[in-house]
Amino acid sequence: MDFLEEIKRRRTFGIISHPDAGKTTLTEKLLLFGGAIQEAGAVKNNKIKKGATSDFMEIERQRGISVATSVLAFNYQGKKINILDTPGHKDFAEDTFRTLTAVDSVIVVIDVAKGVEEQTEKLVEVCRMRNIPMIVFINKLDREGKDAFDLLDEVEQKLKLKVVPLSFPIGMGYDFKGIYNIWAKKINLFSGEAKQTVSEGVEFTDVDNPELDDIVGEKAANTLREELELVREVYPDFNQEKYLKGEEQPVFFGSALNNFGVKELLDCFIDIAPTPQPKMSDTRLVDSKEKKFTGFVFKIHANMDPKHRDRLAFVKIVSGIFKRNTNYLHVKMGKKMKFSSPNAFFAEKKEIVDESFPGDIVGLHDTGNFKIGDTLTEGEILEFKGIPSFSPEHFRYVNNADPMKSKQLSKGLDQLMDEGVAQLFTIDMNGRKVIGTVGALQFEVIQYRLEHEYGAKCAYENLNVHKACWVEAEDPNNDEFKEFKRVKQRYLAKDKKGQLVFLADSAFTVQMTQSKYPTVKLHFVSEFK
Ligand code: G4P
Repeated sequence: MDFLEEIKRRRTFGIISHPDAGKTTLTEKLLLFGGAIQEAGAVKNNKIKKGATSDFMEIERQRGISVATSVLAFNYQGKKINILDTPGHKDFAEDTFRTLTAVDSVIVVIDVAKGVEEQTEKLVEVCRMRNIPMIVFINKLDREGKDAFDLLDEVEQKLKLKVVPLSFPIGMGYDFKGIYNIWAKKINLFSGEAKQTVSEGVEFTDVDNPELDDIVGEKAANTLREELELVREVYPDFNQEKYLKGEEQPVFFGSALNNFGVKELLDCFIDIAPTPQPKMSDTRLVDSKEKKFTGFVFKIHANMDPKHRDRLAFVKIVSGIFKRNTNYLHVKMGKKMKFSSPNAFFAEKKEIVDESFPGDIVGLHDTGNFKIGDTLTEGEILEFKGIPSFSPEHFRYVNNADPMKSKQLSKGLDQLMDEGVAQLFTIDMNGRKVIGTVGALQFEVIQYRLEHEYGAKCAYENLNVHKACWVEAEDPNNDEFKEFKRVKQRYLAKDKKGQLVFLADSAFTVQMTQSKYPTVKLHFVSEFK
C-alpha cells in the first residue's frame, strides 16, 4: 500500500464522556467489531473504581493499566482505527485536554437518562473551540430515559452543538424495540436475550410501507413515522463538509452494553470521519501528506517500573513516515535522536515497529529528554502549537520535608511536571515553589510518587490563589508594566518555561488588575499568541 493510501485509511479519534456514561463499554464493543478482542470484559477498566479504599492508590493501579489502553488500534473494513484513551475523572481533565490535541475527531457519549453532564460540557467546549468534528452517541437506550427530542434540544443548548440525528430510537426503556438507521435506511431490532451478538439491520427505505407495522407493531410504527417526519422538518440533512468543519454533529442512539447501534455508529464513522488532519506549527501549516516526518509528544508515562527509570513518550505522527533507527531532530533541544525500539499500539499490546504513518501514535522510550508538546522533525525548525497549560484550580507551596534529599526532590518535581501531572511556579521574590493542580487528588499522587519513585519527601502549605494568569505586556518597557510588576511583585512567579505568571487571589483581583493596567493582559491559558 502506498503512503497516501495508508493516510487515507486512518481514523484517529477519542471518546469523551462524563464518567459512567459508557465510554469503556463502547470502546470495548468497537474493539469487538474490529476483531481486536474476542469477548466483552477484555479491556481492563482503567477508570477509578467507586469506593476504592484510597483514591490515589487506585490511580497508581490505574496508571499501570493505562499504558496498555492509552492507544487502542484495530483494523475494520480496511480502515486503521486508533482510539486514544481519555481519562474520565475530572481531576485528570488536563490529560484529556492534551490527548484531544492528538485526535482528528471525537465521539461524545451521553447517558440517555442523565443527559448532558458537567464533564461532557467541559470537554465538548474544548473540542468546539478547536472545531474538532464530533459524533454524539446517546447510550443506554435499554433504560428509561429522556424523550429523544428533549435530549436533542438539551444537547444543542447545553453543548452549543448543531445536531443532525442519523438514527432514531423506536421506543425506549421497557418499550425499546430498536433503531431506525436514518443514515443507512435500515431497521435494527432489539432482542434482549442476544446481548453480545451483532444484529444485522434490515434494509427499510420507506417507513410508510405497511410492513413496518408487522415488524415493530402498529403503534410503534406510527410513532416512528411521526417522529421521523418531525426529524425531517426540524433538522437539516446531514452535510459531511459541515461535520468536518465542526459546524454540525451527527447523532446516533444505542445501547453499548447490548451491542446495539454500535455497528451502525462504527460503519458511519469510518465513512464520514476525517483522515489525519493538517496541524498548525509556529511557522506553517503541516499537511499529513508531506513526505517528511513531523510529530509531537502529547503524553508521557514515567516510572512504571520503579527499578528502572523508564519513560514512554507518546508521539502523534503529523506528516511523513516515522522510521525505526533513523535520526530525527528534537527541535527544542536542537539534538538529533534515533529510536531503536519504537512501539506501535494495538488492541491491548504494544509491538516494536519499523514504520508508522500519519495519524498513528508511536511510543518512544526516553530517558528524560521529552516534555509534553515537544516536536520531532527530519531537520526543519518548527514547533507544533496547541498544547497550552490551563490555569490550575488548586495551589499549594511545596516544601522539602527531608533536607538530605533536596536533589531528589527537585529532580522528582521536575520529571513529574514534564509528565504533566501538575504545574510548577517559582515565586519571583523568594524562589519558593508552588504546585498548581486541576484536582486536589494530584497533591496526594505527587507526594506518593516523589517518595516511591525518587526517595524524596515533600510537605504542602496552603496558599490562597484563585487563578494563575499568564501575563502579556503590550509594551514591556512602558511605565504601566513596570508599575504592575512593582505593585504585584509578591504575586509574580515564573512557570516552567520561564513565562511570567500573576497568581491572583480572587476573581475580583483579576478584574481590578485588568482595569487598572489595561496594557497588561492576563490570560488563563499559557498559549495566547
Ligand atoms: P465510563 O467508561 O464512561 O465510565 O462507563 P462504563 O463503560 O464503565 O459504563 C458505566 C456503567 O454503565 C457500567 O455499569 C456499564 O455496564 C453500564 N452501561 C454501559 N452501557 C450501557 C447500556 O447501554 N445500557 C445499560 N443499561 N448500562 C450500560 P456498572 O454497573 O458501573 O459496571 P459493570 O459492573 O457493569 O462493569
